[in-house]
Amino acid sequence: MSGEKGEGRSTLRAATETVSRTLGPLAPRVAIVLGSGLGDVAEGVRSATHIPYADIPGFQKPGAPGHKGELVAGTLEGVEVLVQSGRFHLYEGHAPQLAVLPVRVFARLGIRTLVVTNAAGGIRLTFRPPTLMLIADHINLMFRNPLEGAVEEGEQRFPDMSDPYDRELRGIAREVALQQKIGLDEGVYAALLGPSYETPAEIRMLERLGANAVGMSTVPEVIVARARGMRCLGFSSITNAAAGLSAAPLSHEEVLAAGARVAGQLATLIRGVLVKL
Ligand code: HPA
Repeated sequence: MSGEKGEGRSTLRAATETVSRTLGPLAPRVAIVLGSGLGDVAEGVRSATHIPYADIPGFQKPGAPGHKGELVAGTLEGVEVLVQSGRFHLYEGHAPQLAVLPVRVFARLGIRTLVVTNAAGGIRLTFRPPTLMLIADHINLMFRNPLEGAVEEGEQRFPDMSDPYDRELRGIAREVALQQKIGLDEGVYAALLGPSYETPAEIRMLERLGANAVGMSTVPEVIVARARGMRCLGFSSITNAAAGLSAAPLSHEEVLAAGARVAGQLATLIRGVLVKL
């Protein structure tokens, strides 16, 4: 998508119209963005309508392995949801505006709650992968911001970011984790551009900055969601110890495999939260 304001707006309008038309009478309340290796979370969606990205104006083919490229609408625990299976990463060379196009579509459809998930490297030593982290806050080290440029309709120039991951939703997630006996510590997610994994020195730096996990996504989506007043809830699947914290070299295959091992727990958590909304 071009950064040109007029073209960006018409793409957003066209994408929203296409999704809205395909949804028919469905009115999703919650959008769920799936990270690497977490595609199975979409499996439980009932009466599913699949909308391939190829059918949505402005949406591109996702380049990262393990990302499908479709929206899935339907119900989860009786709640109407829209699942984004496949995200656009900045490391693929995409403009931040494309990374957040789906979230802008969700907002225009009237969705007020965004659940984001990702794969991440664990920096906190007690994170033994594969495990899940509840995102309490984030640090944007991508050195890009999806709100760069002209102010989009429905967004503010300087949105508040003091409650990026909704306090109440985090409380519900912790409650569900306790009930379901799923380990879920809270932590700070640092987003870097990637696509190379970090060096051990970079991980030591991130640790000193207060980061507990590191990844290459999520932050652009949450910034736009907050600019549009949506409430966010975020989970990281800690798929590996961050660079230098274990002897093993990092690989995307390991990330996908570890993600698949906690995808079931993540689905349980998300479903549990939906029931309590
Ligand atoms: N670093 C960055 N992104 C990641 C990692 C990591 O160690 N693991 C999964 N995504």
